[in-house]
Amino acid sequence: MIPRVTGFLHGGDYNPDQWLDRPDILEKDIELMHAAHVNCVSVGIFSWALLEPEEGRYDFKWLDEVIDRLYKGGIYVILATPSGARPAWMAQQHEEVLRVNGQHQRMHFGHRHNHCLTSPYYREKVRQMNTALAQRYADHPAVIMWHLSNEYSGQCHCPLCQQAFRDWLKEKYGTLENLNKKWWTTFWSHRYTDWAQVEAPSPMTDTSNLSMLVDWQRFTSWQCKTFIDNERESVQSVTPKLPCTANLMERFWDYDYFSLAESMDIVSWDSYPEWHNADNVAEAADFAMNHDIMRSLKKQPFLLMESTPSQVNWKPHNKLKRPGMHLLSSLQAVAHGSDSVQYFQWRKGRGGVEMFHGAVVGHDGTGDTRVFRDVTQVGMALEKLQSAVWQKPIKPEVCILFDWENRWAIDFAQTGQMGNMRYFDTVNMHYRALWEKGVSVDFCDMRACTDLSGYKLVIAPMLFMLRNGMEDKLHAYVENGGALVMTYFSGVVDEYNLAYLGETPHGLTDVLGIKTLELDALYPGQGNALVTENGRYEIGELCELIAPQGAKVLGTYESDFYAGDAAFTHHAFGKGQSWYIAAKLSQEGLNAIYGDVIKQLNLAVALQTKLPAGVVTTRRGECIFVQNYTDQAQRVTLDGAYTNLLNDEALQGTCTIAPFGVWVLKK
Ligand code: GLA
Ligand code: ZN
Repeated sequence: MIPRVTGFLHGGDYNPDQWLDRPDILEKDIELMHAAHVNCVSVGIFSWALLEPEEGRYDFKWLDEVIDRLYKGGIYVILATPSGARPAWMAQQHEEVLRVNGQHQRMHFGHRHNHCLTSPYYREKVRQMNTALAQRYADHPAVIMWHLSNEYSGQCHCPLCQQAFRDWLKEKYGTLENLNKKWWTTFWSHRYTDWAQVEAPSPMTDTSNLSMLVDWQRFTSWQCKTFIDNERESVQSVTPKLPCTANLMERFWDYDYFSLAESMDIVSWDSYPEWHNADNVAEAADFAMNHDIMRSLKKQPFLLMESTPSQVNWKPHNKLKRPGMHLLSSLQAVAHGSDSVQYFQWRKGRGGVEMFHGAVVGHDGTGDTRVFRDVTQVGMALEKLQSAVWQKPIKPEVCILFDWENRWAIDFAQTGQMGNMRYFDTVNMHYRALWEKGVSVDFCDMRACTDLSGYKLVIAPMLFMLRNGMEDKLHAYVENGGALVMTYFSGVVDEYNLAYLGETPHGLTDVLGIKTLELDALYPGQGNALVTENGRYEIGELCELIAPQGAKVLGTYESDFYAGDAAFTHHAFGKGQSWYIAAKLSQEGLNAIYGDVIKQLNLAVALQTKLPAGVVTTRRGECIFVQNYTDQAQRVTLDGAYTNLLNDEALQGTCTIAPFGVWVLKK
C-alpha cells in the first residue's frame, strides 16, 4: 500500500515547528524515537502560518531541515497539507475563507477546521501550497505518504455554499418542477417558484423538509469530497507515486465516509475510546466496530493515524489508561486491520489547549516515564508481529449493511423515538453479538455492495431508507442461498426520503414472509419482552407490529394489546432464508439469536471455545488476538497448542490472561 514502507508504522503527530528556537529538541526527539521503537511521524499538519508567512512568500527552509534530520535519523515522514488551519493574514484579507454558521453569522479568525469548503480562493491557495510542497518533498526518501488536511468536518452556509448547493440541485433534479415533486413541497406551502428561493436547511431557514435535509447532507459530503479531490490532484499531479490519506473520525456523521474513501488511497482514522468508564467491554465493542468500518471503507488494511498514549485533553474526564490498556487497545486496532499504531502526539507543546494532552514525551522531556515505557512496549510488539500480521487480510463471512444516507434519514425522521432512534447503537448491538463470539464482520453501504454472494450472512439493521435498488440486491441474495437478518423500521422510504406506497418493507415482503403494520414507541422505563421456545428477552424503545405472510413465528410479544403477536420470524425463500426482528431487543436477546444463527450457518469463529465474559478473540491472517477487557485475570481454555507471538510463550489447555491482557496466538 505504501511503496517505501516494509512494516508497521509506529509514531505519531509531531510538531517540531513549535520548537524552532530549540534545535536540541529535534535531536533529542530522534534519539527518543529510537528508544521508543518509533519509526514514523506526521509533520506539517498545522504549519501554514510558517510555510507561507505572508501571501505568496513561501518559507520551506525549516521544514527542509526537519525532514532531512528525520531521514538521517531513520524516521519516516507522513507529510501533511496544511489546509486544516489557515494563517491570520488570509482570514484578514480574504473573508470568504471563513465559514458561515447555521445562524448565518460569519466566523472570525481562530480555531481550526473551519474554512468554507466552496471558496474558490481557498481552494486555489490550497492547490498552490500543495503543489509547492509536492515539488519540494514528494521525492524525498523520508516522505512516504500525504496526510491531506486534518479531520475534515462541518458545513458552511455562506452565499458561495448556498449557490453551490443550488447548482448541485439543478444538476440532480433538472427542473424546479421535479425538485418540488421529489421534495414534496406542497406540504406547508413550500413550493419554490425560483431557484434563488432555495436555501440550505438551518435554524434560520427550514428544517421541516426531510428530503431537503438529506440532500443537504449529500451535498456537503460531496462538496468535501471535491475539496479532497482538489488537494489530492494537486499533490499527485506532481508525482502520483505517493499515496494519500485523510484522517477520519469515529461515529462520524457529517460526511459519507464510503464516498470520501474513494478519494484517498489509504484510509486512516483517529481513535479515542473512553476506557475505564462505565463498561470497558461495551467500549471495546464500539471501537472494534469503528475499526472494522474503517477497514471496510476500502476493504483493505487501514492506518490508525491517531490515538492517545495516555489521556486526552478534551473529554470532561481525562482519565489515564490503566496498566495494560495501551498495548491492548493498540493491538485491538491491529487485530481489526490496522497496519500502524500512531499517536497524537509525540511531544507535548508548552502552550495551547493541547499542552496537557497525552504525549509520548511529556514536559520533562525524557523517556523515563510510564507512558514512554508503554509506548516502547507497543513498538516492540509491532516488530514481533511484523511477519505474521502486517498487511494480512481479514476475510469475514458476515456483512452488516451500514449506510450513511440511511443514518441521516433515520435521524431526521419524526416518528418513533424522536431524534433518538439510535441507528448507530443498534448496528453496534448486532455487531457486538458476533464480535463477542469471535466472528469477523465487514461493513458495506447500499451503493458499494454490488455483490453480496460471497457472504454467508447479511445483516441489515433498521434499513429505513432503501436506496439504489437495494431491495433487488437483497432479493437476489436470499433467492440464491443467502441468509438475511432484518429488523423493524426497514424499507420505509426511497432515496428521496419519500414514503414507499404499498406493503413494507418495500420489495422484501416475499423474502421476509411478513409485512409491517404499525410502529409503537415506548416511554423510557417501559418494556415488553420477546418470548421464544428458548427464553424470554427484554424489549424496549420500539415495537413494530407485523403480520406474518408465510414466515414461521419464532417469538411473540409478551404483553400489551399485541401480546402473543409475532415479534421474531424466520422464512425460507428461494435457496436461502431470512429472519425478521420486529422490536428493539436487549443485547442478551440478540446474543441468543445470533448464537443460533452462527451455529446454523456454521460461521467461522476465531477460537472454538467458550470465553469468559469480557474476553474476546479476533482473527487476522493466521493469528488470533485474545483480548481481556476486564480488570481481572481470566482463565481461557484454548482449543489447541499455540505460541503467543508477543513473548514466544507456548500456550495450551487452560491458561491465565492478565487483567487488560492480550495474546497474539499462532498455531
Ligand atoms: C484530533 C486532531 C488532533 C488533536 C487530537 C487530540 O484527533 O486531529 O489534531 O487535536 O484530536 O485528541
Ligand atoms: Zn461557504
